[in-house]
Amino acid sequence: MTPQEIALVRTSFTKLGPIAEQISALFYARLFELDPALRLLFHGDMRVQGRKLMGMIGTAVSLLDQPDTLMPMLRQLSSRHVVYGVRHEHYTVVGEVLLWTLQKGLGPEFTPEVAGAWKKTYTTLADTMRGAVTLHQAVA
Ligand code: HEM
Repeated sequence: MTPQEIALVRTSFTKLGPIAEQISALFYARLFELDPALRLLFHGDMRVQGRKLMGMIGTAVSLLDQPDTLMPMLRQLSSRHVVYGVRHEHYTVVGEVLLWTLQKGLGPEFTPEVAGAWKKTYTTLADTMRGAVTLHQAVA
């Protein structure tokens, strides 16, 4: 990703800070609407889960230019997701819903440039997590 794309992602994510709670509620509502079976994978308070998700996205966004720190963190996150029952194909719907939610939250500020930068960000995260899953399963 270019420094400009990273800056776009960071700036737009910061704008969502004040509405993070609503954003994560919207995200999970949409996710479970599109794939109701995914609801069964979650066991805790969804507001707490939403905070964890937003927190992790924030951390990842702040580390986009530090792959040596970001990648091991994502690999660990990925291993935990295997235990949660998350499969490769789930990353596709989650990515679509994330983009949809960002568009809802940012409105006109979700420009094609911002959308493109977020697509690259999510692809980086999901590819790393899926890659780690393959490795994890191969080793197991
Ligand atoms: C970039 C992608 C993702 C990020 C950043 C992310 C982030 C997180 C975080 C921070 C947690 C809290 C627990 C922990 O740290 O281990 C979590 C839990 C969880 N995530 Fe994800 N996640 C991602 C993708 C997915 C996908 C694709 C699914 C599939 C539906 C998913 C389902 C879950 C479930 C089921 C839990 C555990 C809920 C529970 O314990 O009740 N996540 N995720």
